[in-house]
Amino acid sequence: MQGEAREFNEIAKNIFYPIYPVIAQQILENGISEGICLDVGSGPGHLGLAIARQTQMQVCLFDVSPEALMIAAQNIQDEALEGRVYTKQGNVEDIPYPDESFNLVTSRGSLFFWEDKVTGINEIFRVLKPGGMAYIGGGFGNQKLRKTVDEKMLAIDDQWLIKAATRMNSEENYSELMLRTKVDEFKIKDDEAGLWISFQKNQTRRKQNEPLSSNN
Ligand SMILES: C[S@@+](CC[C@H](N)C(=O)[O-])C[C@H]1O[C@@H](n2cnc3c(N)ncnc32)[C@H](O)[C@@H]1O
Repeated sequence: MQGEAREFNEIAKNIFYPIYPVIAQQILENGISEGICLDVGSGPGHLGLAIARQTQMQVCLFDVSPEALMIAAQNIQDEALEGRVYTKQGNVEDIPYPDESFNLVTSRGSLFFWEDKVTGINEIFRVLKPGGMAYIGGGFGNQKLRKTVDEKMLAIDDQWLIKAATRMNSEENYSELMLRTKVDEFKIKDDEAGLWISFQKNQTRRKQNEPLSSNN
């Protein structure tokens, strides 16, 4: 695992790097650009760091791998973002934060590795604040960036397209997956730029067992 996290950071820095600011901008343009962001399966943290650079948001880089988070911590320091960006270790299936903690949850390239995806998505929904939004998937920003990444990855790994296809176009039906979660409304975009599942937590949603207000 140790070598894996370091190797992924090198690939992310040298090949994937241009995709992160583009994805961050696409996510931020959709509405949430203030408050606290949780980047699930952050790895070395490049998406969360891009969000921090483009906003004044606080960003938590969250990953199951302590090794990935050590690299993330170095990347935070290199970008002098220690004031607003921090790391937290844990599993998406049991996020160590209270309900309604985050305005924005992002997760890129991680969903494909979660053992229990339904529980992971329910956990993300739980920690979203009312009105908060989540973006989960494996996008590359746009078709041109994806083509460039594919070409560069193929030069170092001739199995890349096979691996990417297995992850991105797995037979799993994401719509069916989402219907098994507690999320009542969601969007799925699966095109040349990659897969994104997005949802928003309803502003007026009541917590379980919360009494109706006295006006009702
Ligand atoms: C391919 S990397 C993607 C890193 C980063 N999001 C990016 O796009 O550059 C996948 C990351 O997901 C993390 N991960 C896998 N399963 C996880 C889980 N159950 N909970 C939290 N993180 C997980 C891995 O440790 C790894 O760092």
